[in-house]
Amino acid sequence: MTIQPFKLERYFARYEFSVKYLLSSSDCESLGMDELFGMAAPESRALWDGLKLGYTESQGHPLLRAEVAKLYQRILAENVLIAAPEEAIFVAMQTLLQPGEHAIAVSPTYQSLYEIARSIGCHVTPWPLQSTPAGWALDIQQLEASITDKTRLLVLNFPNNPTGYLPSHQEFDDILSLARKHNLTVFSDEMYRLLESDTGLRLPSLADAYENGIALSGLSKSFALPGLRIGWLVSQRSDLIPHWLAFKDYTTICNSAPSEILGIIALQNTARIVQRNLDIIRENTAIATAFFAQHSDKFACHLPKAGSIAFPEWHGPGTIEQLAQGLLDQQGVMIVPGHLFDIPGKHFRIGLGRKNFGEALEKVDLYLEMRI
Ligand SMILES: Cc1ncc(COP(=O)(O)O)c(C=O)c1O
Repeated sequence: MTIQPFKLERYFARYEFSVKYLLSSSDCESLGMDELFGMAAPESRALWDGLKLGYTESQGHPLLRAEVAKLYQRILAENVLIAAPEEAIFVAMQTLLQPGEHAIAVSPTYQSLYEIARSIGCHVTPWPLQSTPAGWALDIQQLEASITDKTRLLVLNFPNNPTGYLPSHQEFDDILSLARKHNLTVFSDEMYRLLESDTGLRLPSLADAYENGIALSGLSKSFALPGLRIGWLVSQRSDLIPHWLAFKDYTTICNSAPSEILGIIALQNTARIVQRNLDIIRENTAIATAFFAQHSDKFACHLPKAGSIAFPEWHGPGTIEQLAQGLLDQQGVMIVPGHLFDIPGKHFRIGLGRKNFGEALEKVDLYLEMRI
């Protein structure tokens, strides 16, 4: 198997643990063990205290799968596979696609959502998000025009990484009608779901809304627990689980025992954890709004209605790579240029979920004052 390097992950590997201000992180401020244990019901705490560090059930701890199933309307614990989120994408793509098939993936998005398909020998057509004066937008007619008789899979990612784009309920329904009409399997990366600024904006999970759909979610973003490496695939299609399990025997076989118990505790406190993260995002969105208003000559930015990331555009002098390097060298601030998402030009990602977001923007402010 040959696969292209994961550009974003290689970039993070260079800076994530050495740079002070990670202005482009997509996850929310990580929860600590003390915070999580502070929420644990006595029965879950007892699971932790009595935990033996053996191998675990390949599909995932039954209690963890039951907690995941509660997030959905039409999903039972037996329809859930627990795996690290990135692993789950790998396993799903390997089992859904064959060489020579065609896939369509919303673009930009997280690289593995299309790169794994390419590595299998599939042709992938991007379905591009357009930057319009009113914000990011998708053209459904363009999607229909891309569908051929070889198209097997449509890959969605809403709220989108990196733009923060979330379709309306009507647009989501239109996408599903098209998928039904063309008998497409749909894979929906919902890692940032639950982080809507208004619950009225929240789309149903694809796993509930579409009988031939697979949804990915996990604890890394909306639950602020990326270090647990816990995610899940869910689908109404029960025929998929045996294929996923057979493939997972060649990745991790099973999940980390401590992470599964901590995951149960987190999911039993979903509302509280999500609210904590939304509060951080709301506060940072207000800071970002003021910053971009103050620098409207240098940036264009549509702050998202959902998720923890945005994809502003640099309108100042030089390339976005030059700005990124200058911020790194002179202020210890890391931003992710858009080319890491295969987007040429001057976009860059910012993360709204970290507690030092305001401090990081102050450093950007300083840089702009000194340099521009
Ligand atoms: C859209 C999306 N999907 C999947 C993942 C993978 O999550 P993890 O890094 O926890 O495996 C990420 C991580 O950034 C992501 O942004």
